[in-house]
Amino acid sequence: MHSFEYKNGSLHCEDVNLQDIAEQYGTPAYVYSANTILDHYRRLDAALAEIDHCVEYAVKANSNLSVLRLLAEEGSGFDIVSGGELFRVIKAGGDPKKCTFAGVGKTRAEIEYALEQGIYSFNVESEEEAAFINVVAGEMGKVAPIAFRVNPNVDAKTHKYISTGKSENKFGVDFAYIEAAYERASQLENVKLIGLQMHIGSQLTSVSPFIEAVEKVSPLAAKLKATYGIEFFSIGGGVGIVYDPALESAKPEWWAAQEEEQRPLTIEEYAAGVLPKLKELGLKILLEPGRYIVGNAGVMLTQCLYEKKGSAKTFKVVDAGMNDLIRPALYEGHHEIVPVAQPAGDDNIKMDVVGPICETGDFFMQNAELPNFPVGSVIALLSSGAYGFTMASNYNTRPMPVEIMVDGDQAKVIRKRQSLDDLIAAEL
Ligand code: LLP
Repeated sequence: MHSFEYKNGSLHCEDVNLQDIAEQYGTPAYVYSANTILDHYRRLDAALAEIDHCVEYAVKANSNLSVLRLLAEEGSGFDIVSGGELFRVIKAGGDPKKCTFAGVGKTRAEIEYALEQGIYSFNVESEEEAAFINVVAGEMGKVAPIAFRVNPNVDAKTHKYISTGKSENKFGVDFAYIEAAYERASQLENVKLIGLQMHIGSQLTSVSPFIEAVEKVSPLAAKLKATYGIEFFSIGGGVGIVYDPALESAKPEWWAAQEEEQRPLTIEEYAAGVLPKLKELGLKILLEPGRYIVGNAGVMLTQCLYEKKGSAKTFKVVDAGMNDLIRPALYEGHHEIVPVAQPAGDDNIKMDVVGPICETGDFFMQNAELPNFPVGSVIALLSSGAYGFTMASNYNTRPMPVEIMVDGDQAKVIRKRQSLDDLIAAEL
């Protein structure tokens, strides 16, 4: 579902005019649609209705307290990767007993905090980590629930920086060593083996790597259930979204005619692909979606400051930079750019859309054919709800942008724009 569309010549989020938001709260600004987030969560939940399952929303995608609260109220669990994310979940009213804790480098302080809060499972990435959790739990007089993350050595066919399930990636326990890891961990006194986890990568646009991974790892899950009585199998996150709206609005006949790799992956197709094998296991199935839930639920608004005509090309300089949205610079990520004021005719020109930062990589699009939006106008970078604000920084001593949540015709600031004083508040 998309809640960003033109009404009366202006781009809206649900029933709120984004031009009004830009005028009232300034730019750059992140704007999220509450109903899109809920719709995505509910669609995923419904697609899995026939099996015992739990959605563990991947907090790293968008960790604003209001986003977490919305999902907590729907009954979502949370996949966290730091003590900080656990703190956020608790502050937002989330249930630690529904939290899984991922990551290759958990510290003592984080393990202690998670044990105190009683999380559902540590998703452990090495035997060394299991041994350390055993020590810490023992000191605290607790038994830590753990699952190993297995690295299934499956090619996710995504950008190399967000591929995680190949043997050369740092994640998980090698498929060849995983049974021995369970065997040794079963001897540890202060840990309890309760599950198995995997996550092969992010922004997967085809269902086949998911099916390949599930088929490869399911026999292992069955064996671990029989041997150690594990209760869950987490198949991770990674469901990709459509960053190019031309694909999203394409006609069904067009969609059906495409090769699998070229068409958007729907959640129904994903569920139909993985469910048959998972059903046989009789285990609780966990999913850790991040981008699927929030990616298309957010845009970043930015204003055009200058138009600069060079001999090679035209540059539109906007007031957001790579510090606000780093995905184009880091992963060559594509974020569709649309003017908030609907273009009257076809006045596309070739341009680079660039930010104010002192880096050549500070661009949102290069050599793009886009409507010739004027200086002073506001544009929206679509599909910025995931890994947008959470990856923003203060580089060039730029304040972090404001975040706004829209619900119907209401818009609320859910995080204030940083002030200049905020920028130096922690410095001594
Ligand atoms: N579970 C684990 C263990 C993960 O490492 C991740 C993402 C997820 C779940 C959620 O994946 P998702 O459903 O969102 O694909 N910053 C990058 C993406 C990094 C993903 C890291 N791990 C980007 O902007 O594309």
